[in-house]
Amino acid sequence: MVYIVAGATGVLGSAIAEDLSKNNKIFLIGRDKEKIESMSNKYNCSYALLDLNNPIPQREFKNVINSEIEIKGLVNCIGSVLIKPLHGTSIDEFYKIINTNLFSSYYLLSTFAKRMKNGSAIFFSSVAASLGLSNHELISAAKSGIEGFVRSSAASYSKDNLRINAIAPSIMKSNMSNKILSSEQAVEISKSMHPIPKIGTYNDILPVVRLLLSDESEWITGQTINIDGGLSKIKPR
Ligand SMILES: NC(=O)c1ccc[n+]([C@@H]2O[C@H](COP(=O)([O-])OP(=O)(O)OC[C@H]3O[C@@H](n4cnc5c(N)ncnc54)[C@H](OP(=O)(O)O)[C@@H]3O)[C@@H](O)[C@H]2O)c1
Repeated sequence: MVYIVAGATGVLGSAIAEDLSKNNKIFLIGRDKEKIESMSNKYNCSYALLDLNNPIPQREFKNVINSEIEIKGLVNCIGSVLIKPLHGTSIDEFYKIINTNLFSSYYLLSTFAKRMKNGSAIFFSSVAASLGLSNHELISAAKSGIEGFVRSSAASYSKDNLRINAIAPSIMKSNMSNKILSSEQAVEISKSMHPIPKIGTYNDILPVVRLLLSDESEWITGQTINIDGGLSKIKPR
């Protein structure tokens, strides 16, 4: 039985891989050969390379995991962000954001869903999917797509007892947010936007990942769990 972590070399992906590896067999997916190889040595697990910017294999990608191995969980941490005035964005930037965030989710679930009876899959949305934030059009479109994709696929595969959910964080410390949080002033502005004023970390996300992958959440499917200090839903006075 194995848990797949895609985007395993990112901040969230590596934290989830580390956490899952303590009690489970994991399988890693990443694009950086050196980094993913060193993780696979550390956790004594197999891996596959996948770079969404390059041509990728069709359905045969499912063969990276031996067909006899049961896939219990899939967590897609592949993602990217772009915050830019819409009129200044290029068509290439649009496709890249959709590709990395939405297409990666489609690709992984369509590849592995039929092998995930009694399993759980998790995809990452963003607060930008449910709250209109200026200059977030591209990421909002991609992440809103993920939320719809999660609802529909959860309906399709409920007959297999495959549960499919999304987690929608607000801004967290990670590689992709480095630039956005590059100054003390930017950090303070970001914090102050949140009803609970802080920048998130992977530690805010891990407990929910554990819950959604475990049988304790056996009746939770098709949901988006917002982890955002309240930003998406509440406005304190
Ligand atoms: N950090 C935030 O503020 C924030 C907020 C809301 C939602 N999220 C979502 O949370 C998830 C995890 O992100 P994170 O915070 O852990 O960010 P991160 O550290 O930047 O990780 C992003 C991951 O995506 C991989 N990736 C990017 N482009 C790729 C491509 N073309 N092909 C294959 N892999 C690619 C990266 O690979 P490399 O390691 O090789 O670069 C990395 O593993 C993402 O879906 C993100 O959109 C994050």
